[in-house]
Amino acid sequence: MNKELIPWSDIFSIDKKIIDSQHKILIKLINELYAAFLDGKANDHISNILDELTKYTVSHFKTEEVFFEEVNYDDADNHKKEHQDFVDKVVDFKTKFKEGDVSLSYDIMNFLRDWLQNHILVSDRKYISYLK
Ligand code: FEO
Repeated sequence: MNKELIPWSDIFSIDKKIIDSQHKILIKLINELYAAFLDGKANDHISNILDELTKYTVSHFKTEEVFFEEVNYDDADNHKKEHQDFVDKVVDFKTKFKEGDVSLSYDIMNFLRDWLQNHILVSDRKYISYLK
């Protein structure tokens, strides 16, 4: 079985090297989480990936938000809100997971995949034209 939930594809490329490389790392972390889920890895292992995913997501969003300031991006507030809503959801899930209140599921994995794919293909693609 293919354990890559999101295979990298050039359709995700937004032609800005630092952003593409950060998106590749985010995709890699989601794929790692998915593989751990399928393999039934211990909760500690999954918790570590969730910590890493949260940390890296926050750092990636910060990189983009600095670009927004630099180019005075006019849709920055909406984009930042998308970022914050996603971080809030991931942190909320992670907290409940660590407390044993929820488990990793296909629903969660599909949410992460769909959110990231859609965000890269729609929202990130919009701001990138301002950087050129
Ligand atoms: Fe690449 Fe707006 O996140």
